[in-house]
Amino acid sequence: MNMGLRSESVATKPIDGQKPGTSGLRKKTTIFQQPHYTENFVQSTFAAIGDDLVGSTLVVGGDGRFFMKDAVAIIVKMAAANQVRKLIIGQNGLFSTPALSCVIKKRQATGGIILTASHNPGGADGDFGIKYNTANGGPAPEKITNQIYEHTKVISEYRMCQGAVVDIGEIGTTDFTVDGQPFSVEVVDPVADYVLLMKDIFDFAAIKEYLHGGVKVVINSMHGVMGVYAKEIFVNEFGLPEDSCVNCDPKDDFGGHHPDPNLTYAADLVDLLKKGIHGFGAAFDGDGDRNMVLGQNGFFVSPSDSVAVIAANADCIPYFKSTGVKGLARSMPTGASLDRVAAKKNIDCYEVPTGWKFFGNLMDAGKVSLCGEESYGTGSDHIREKDGCWAVLAWLSILASRKQSVEEVLMDHWATYGRNFFTRWDYEGVDAEKAKAMMAHLRTLIDSSQTKDFIGRSFAQEGKTYVISEADDFEYKDPIDESIAKNQGIRIIMKDGSRIVFRLSGTSSSGATVRMYIDNYIDDPSTFGQDAQAVLKPFARIALEISKLTEFTGRDAPTVIT
Ligand code: G1P
Ligand code: ZN
Repeated sequence: MNMGLRSESVATKPIDGQKPGTSGLRKKTTIFQQPHYTENFVQSTFAAIGDDLVGSTLVVGGDGRFFMKDAVAIIVKMAAANQVRKLIIGQNGLFSTPALSCVIKKRQATGGIILTASHNPGGADGDFGIKYNTANGGPAPEKITNQIYEHTKVISEYRMCQGAVVDIGEIGTTDFTVDGQPFSVEVVDPVADYVLLMKDIFDFAAIKEYLHGGVKVVINSMHGVMGVYAKEIFVNEFGLPEDSCVNCDPKDDFGGHHPDPNLTYAADLVDLLKKGIHGFGAAFDGDGDRNMVLGQNGFFVSPSDSVAVIAANADCIPYFKSTGVKGLARSMPTGASLDRVAAKKNIDCYEVPTGWKFFGNLMDAGKVSLCGEESYGTGSDHIREKDGCWAVLAWLSILASRKQSVEEVLMDHWATYGRNFFTRWDYEGVDAEKAKAMMAHLRTLIDSSQTKDFIGRSFAQEGKTYVISEADDFEYKDPIDESIAKNQGIRIIMKDGSRIVFRLSGTSSSGATVRMYIDNYIDDPSTFGQDAQAVLKPFARIALEISKLTEFTGRDAPTVIT
């Protein structure tokens, strides 16, 4: 027991630009390292928690990136000084985002603070991020993130207790008395509760049997936090050889790579799968909420298809067998494969803005069991974050039960539902003014749509003609709390249901990233086996023509294609 610690007030001034984006506050690490920067944001987060902060329990951890341990130490001192009752911290500060969400719920915590910039590069020159999650385990809704931001604009002091110091390398509880009040820090195994939850959801014995039946798998953790979870689940639980988990030692700079599981940044996994030795491969991002799934010979499962396949095969997963599938949801730019499953199975399907936080209310209200985003996010209502490991276990459950390869599962799926060919082109590091000008141009077209000169226009490329039937700037009214989210992306919808979407990223830490999404439904079976980029080329050209992207941004090619 550390008796008699005192807290103190530290004078500070508002710092510009502390507005949380799609998923918390993300900036260059050097910005978070500036005097008072992290402290101001943490104090503003505490202010937004309001009266619930006194006596609260908060879960804290992150993906192991550079500056994370410093941020944990700051949070310990500030929590101690702000009458938090207890912190639950993952050993060495580690928690995957889904595991942290799981622990908030399981331990009935007031909320949690996640230290990650997700898939953005880490290290001294990389990015850092802080995100607040509420008692349901999910990212704070905009109402709260706006309160945080408002507070950052008026902050004049924060509270610290310099004596509140713990060794986060050791599991166990440290008790303090701060300003006469009790304060405890419990350092926990970041993996244990999460693995128990997975065992409740999936049939581990069936997956284990499948994995020992001849198919070779490889799991790539991209030097993020998932390494510790992958080793526990795939090596210790399923008894696979150690080399089935690669890049599974968390590094504070992710080995100098982008910890983003896609065809560009996980190209080494794609190359490995192309050798044909493995029947299944998967990669996770830095904090473990994203996943990419590959089949033999590098067969790529688009994330928009992944959630649809899981929905179509939900009866392969014990959890859904008992809860049923209450409803489905996808983010607006995500390919509409899921809608086809919903229609055929007569299940409700919701379309929400980009960002996992919009699924939370629907899940809390029991309206949605399964949801996904095209950005490698897949998950269910077992927690309130997307969950890379859950998605991989869902896929393995499907493979084990259907006794088919990944490619066969997809070919069957398309034969039943038709195929939504989907791609996303990212233009990273665009001059922000130029990106805004392009979006303004698109908004002008949408305005003119009200005067009807945009609607009905037709575009032809390579013998295919598309006619615009609808266009808007996506607006969402949450069916539960009726909050409204405006300007969530320009949608141009064609008569055949094909869609073009443009939006600016809300997670990039500098400059602007333009995202162009293309979704084209085709039910001709002779195309199903074809490469999405080849099939979508004419439609993508039309999207570029309408947006004048090259004229506005000076870019003639995207930086990343998914
Ligand atoms: C991106 C993705 C979005 C995801 C978010 C957090 O946001 O597009 O789907 O929820 O990262 O992982 P964006 O940069 O597009 O705002
Ligand atoms: Zn992430």
